[in-house]
Amino acid sequence: MSETLSPAVARPDHITDAVFYDFDMFADPAYLANPHARILDMHKSAPPIFWTPRNGGHWMFVSHSANFEASRDVEKFSSEIVPQSKIKEMLAKLPPGAPHIPQPLPINIDPPDHTIYRAPLQRAFSPKAINELKGSIRELAISLIEGMKPKGSADFVSEVAEPLPVQVFLKMFGLPLEKQAAYRALVKEHMENIKNHDPAMIVRRMLKLTAIMKETILDRKENPKDDLISMLWQTRIGDRETTINDMENYCVVLFTAGLDTVVNGISLGAYHMATHPELQQQLRADPSQIPAATEEMLRRYTFTVPLRRVSNDIEFQGVQLKAGDRIMLFLPGADLDAKEYPNPEVYNHKRENSVHIAFGAGPHRCLGSHLARVELQVVYEELLTRLPAFSLDASKPVTFHGGHVVGPDHVWLKW
Ligand code: HEM
Repeated sequence: MSETLSPAVARPDHITDAVFYDFDMFADPAYLANPHARILDMHKSAPPIFWTPRNGGHWMFVSHSANFEASRDVEKFSSEIVPQSKIKEMLAKLPPGAPHIPQPLPINIDPPDHTIYRAPLQRAFSPKAINELKGSIRELAISLIEGMKPKGSADFVSEVAEPLPVQVFLKMFGLPLEKQAAYRALVKEHMENIKNHDPAMIVRRMLKLTAIMKETILDRKENPKDDLISMLWQTRIGDRETTINDMENYCVVLFTAGLDTVVNGISLGAYHMATHPELQQQLRADPSQIPAATEEMLRRYTFTVPLRRVSNDIEFQGVQLKAGDRIMLFLPGADLDAKEYPNPEVYNHKRENSVHIAFGAGPHRCLGSHLARVELQVVYEELLTRLPAFSLDASKPVTFHGGHVVGPDHVWLKW
C-alpha cells in the first residue's frame, strides 16, 4: 500500500547529526514493500538509536539492548503518553452526564497503579485458563480452514487470520456470536485507521466498541456466567469494587491489544510458510516442531511497536534524550539485531538463542502471550494438516502496512 510521507518537522537542538535518520514508520516506501527486509537494511545504514523528523518527530530504538533496557526502565520511560494527571484534569472538565471515555489500562499507566490494574487480568490469561480454551480454538480454526479449502485460492487474512481472534474474543467474553460482523467491522476500521492519531477519532471508535458490549457487561453483573466479563466483575481493583468504567477500560484494551496483533502474527506466519515450501514439508513430517517454529516466526517477523515518553532529561546509551520526547520501541528491529541473533535474517527454529522480545519485556510484557501462542500454533497445525502444499498467489501480490502493528493487508494463497 503506498502512503504519503508525513511532513518533516524541524530538528530540535539536542538532535545531533550522529543520531538523525529520516524514516517514516507509516509510509517509508521500502518498508511498505517489505518491512522486515527494510529493517535488516536499517541495521546496516541507521544508528541503533535515531531520531526521525517524520510523524511529529520521535526516537526509534532499533537495537535489542536499547529496547530491552528501556522496556524495563519505567522510571525513565513512561507508558503514560499523556500523563494520567493531565487525563484526570481533562476528564474533570467534561459536562455532567458525558459518556465515560474508555482508556486502555493497564497498557497506558505506570507502576504502582499499573500493577493494580494488571492483577485482575493476570488470572484470566494464565496458561491454565487459556489451555481450557484450546479445544474450542481448534474447532474454530478447523471450521475456517475447511471453509476456505474448496476454493483452491483465497485471501488467508480475511478467511482465517481475521475471523479467528474475533470469534475467540467473543467466546472468552461471553458476547453473542451474532455480533461477529459488527466486531469484524470494528477491527477493520481499527486497522485501517492505525495511522490516524486524531484523538477525537480514537475516542469515537472506543465509544462504538463499548456501546456494543455494554448490554452484556451490565447483564453479567446481575447474572454471572462462565466468562471473562463475569470473572472481572468479581475481582477488585486494589481495595475497591470493579465499576462499569473499569470494565469498559478492560474491554477496550483487550480489543485493541489482542485482535489485530494476532491477525498480523498469523498472517506473517502463513506468508513465511507460503514462501518456504521446505519448511511446510518439515513441519508436516514432524508437527512437534510447530511450537519452536511459532517462536522463530515471532522473532523473524516481530511486528509491534510500543510507545514511551521520556520522563526527564537523560543520557541513555550515549544519546541525549529530553523530557517529553516520544520513543518508539521498535521491537521488530530488536529481534533482527545481529548482536543478539547471529544471521538474524535466517529463519532457524533450532537457533541457540530463541528468546525473542516480540511480546515486549518488563512490567508491561504481553498479558495475552499464552493465548496468542495457542492461537498461532493451532492455526499452523491445522493449516498444515488440512491444506496440501500452498504458495503465494503471484497474481495478487502481498501488500503491507506499517505503523504500530506491522503486517500484510492480504495474503493470497493457492494450493
Ligand atoms: C502475537 C500476538 C501478540 C503480540 C506480538 C503482542 C505484543 C505485545 C507487546 C509487545 C506488549 C507490550 C506493550 C508495551 O510494552 O507497551 C503487549 C502488551 C499487552 N498485550 Fe499483547 N500481544 C499479542 C497478543 C495479545 C493478546 C491475544 C492479548 C489479549 C487478548 C494481548 C493483551 C495485551 C495486554 C492487555 C497488554 C498490556 C499489558 C500491560 O500493560 O501490563 N496481547 N502485547
